[in-house]
Amino acid sequence: MDALLQAALDARLRAHAPFSRFLVGAAIEATDGRIFGGCNVENSSYGLTMCAERSAIFRAVAEGAKRFRRIAVVAATPQLTPPCGACRQVLWDLCGDLEVILFNLEGARETLRLSDLLPRAFDATYLD
Ligand code: THU
Repeated sequence: MDALLQAALDARLRAHAPFSRFLVGAAIEATDGRIFGGCNVENSSYGLTMCAERSAIFRAVAEGAKRFRRIAVVAATPQLTPPCGACRQVLWDLCGDLEVILFNLEGARETLRLSDLLPRAFDATYLD
């Protein structure tokens, strides 16, 4: 198994999701080869919940990674779970047109580009 997908699976098992019981794992690969996992971390004040994808990218940035190649996202859904809108925006800002691999526990898998998930994105170029 691809180490990136394995890292996402490992991270999913660390999800803190006592409210939704919806476990999500993500893993992002930096261009230097390092892989950073993330899981969703829910809060009793629901809006403070952090998704797996943002957990992964924020962790990567905190560890000094600057450029990224791919992110993998796993959940136990027959229809593959994509990143939410907030995660798409954050990933676009920090990673650009990332490769996004969605997969589930049954082996279904799909590879997309972030630009397909977030067309005509707002980003820092508009702030110039
Ligand atoms: N969630 C993620 O972590 N990533 C996604 O791509 C979709 C949603 C989490 C947030 C919340 O903890 C739970 O899944 C249900 O929305």
